[in-house]
Amino acid sequence: MQQDMIVILDLGSNQNTLIARDIRALGVYTEIHPHDITREQLEALPNVKGIILNGGANRVVDGVAIDASDAVYGCGLPLMAVDHAAKRSDVTLANWPAGDPFRREALRSFVFDTCKAQANWNMDNFIADQIELIRKQVGSRKVLLALSGGVDSSVVAALLIRAIGDQLTCVHVNHGLLRKGEPEQVVEVFRNQLGANLIYVDAVDRFLDKLAGVADPEQKRKIIGAEFIRVFEEEARKLDGIDFLGQGTIYPDIVESGTKTAKMVKSHHNVGGLPEDLKFELVEPLKMLFKDEVRACGVALGLPDSMVYRQPFPGPGLGVRCLGAITRDRLEALREADAILREEFDLAGLRGKVWQYFTVIPDFRSTGVRNNARCFEWPVILRAVNTVDAMTATVEQVPWPVLLKITDRILSEVKGVNRVLYDLSPKPVATIEWE
Ligand code: XMP
Repeated sequence: MQQDMIVILDLGSNQNTLIARDIRALGVYTEIHPHDITREQLEALPNVKGIILNGGANRVVDGVAIDASDAVYGCGLPLMAVDHAAKRSDVTLANWPAGDPFRREALRSFVFDTCKAQANWNMDNFIADQIELIRKQVGSRKVLLALSGGVDSSVVAALLIRAIGDQLTCVHVNHGLLRKGEPEQVVEVFRNQLGANLIYVDAVDRFLDKLAGVADPEQKRKIIGAEFIRVFEEEARKLDGIDFLGQGTIYPDIVESGTKTAKMVKSHHNVGGLPEDLKFELVEPLKMLFKDEVRACGVALGLPDSMVYRQPFPGPGLGVRCLGAITRDRLEALREADAILREEFDLAGLRGKVWQYFTVIPDFRSTGVRNNARCFEWPVILRAVNTVDAMTATVEQVPWPVLLKITDRILSEVKGVNRVLYDLSPKPVATIEWE
């Protein structure tokens, strides 16, 4: 690693990520570490130029204020304390609220003037470093990767292909719940353009058979998750001599999984629950990147924008948008309606502006009239929301003509649909998805 680093020590702040984002935006690499980092751990980090002691709301644990160890205070590097409770520091900023106009300037001055760090954090350096690290870790052995076609797994795949070529085997499981054109795009980009060693598994019937008649949303999710692992495991067992599993773990997964003081937000399992006897070592080259950095990395590796700037898509895919027990006819109608919505949002310049947009198909029908005869068909619900962290969301005010055009197209092009509705509900009380 040639890049200078600023270490953020988490002394109970809920702003570690914000500060990390700000420092990286200055072009300087930074990592968040627990407050009780040892001398050995600190010395093992490359090119550390300074340390930020980031105290905050969670600083007092069981009545005692936590603090960094003497190893930190005695390390000789410039220190910056970001709350008034810190002891012995050379820069103190009391009560530093989020969005403070001086945040950037204070950080800039600490990072460049005090620490003399170089602004050498960029994707070209990152990719060069990672290729070296991956080659060192993997040697001449083999890596397996579950390639969903989502941003993170796609970028990991592209990086691993660049680093180790055909020592990587990608497995793409088509569970029948992907959006229109997605499995085809994965094959086109990775097998045809990047020359990846790609195993395409058509598991559509298998998943839909397992899901037949299952209406409970949690049950559906469980079946999809468990079946995915089963299919992936079967493919893994067919291959010889795989030692590593590639994973698209990114930095928020690690930060959110809890540091010493932060509460566990959620546990992350990208390919959780693989059987014990399939023992893989993990290769996680994106684990220090934030989402926008992952996208920048994908662009630098030559992945198409449509893959890199995809909107978030849930693991269970269209399975949670085909409400109740999934049937093939409703699933097809949903997939077609979703494709129309995405096409029209593109044409209206809404891609990249609206955070997430999709269609939902309920499991009831209503009366209509088609070709002068009564019809009894499904409705399709349109949803378009904006959010920062997916914890709360507001509804996008899509221009009326765009909604009308989408409605027209769905009613005339999608078989079995006679009504289109727009979901106006914010989160809370509604969630973004319907199941
Ligand atoms: P909700 O419906 O909880 O969704 O408001 C918040 C965000 O999370 C996405 N989502 C999922 N993502 N696996 C995922 O990877 C899931 O099971 C899942 N469920 C919801 C959802 O699309 C939205 O962006």
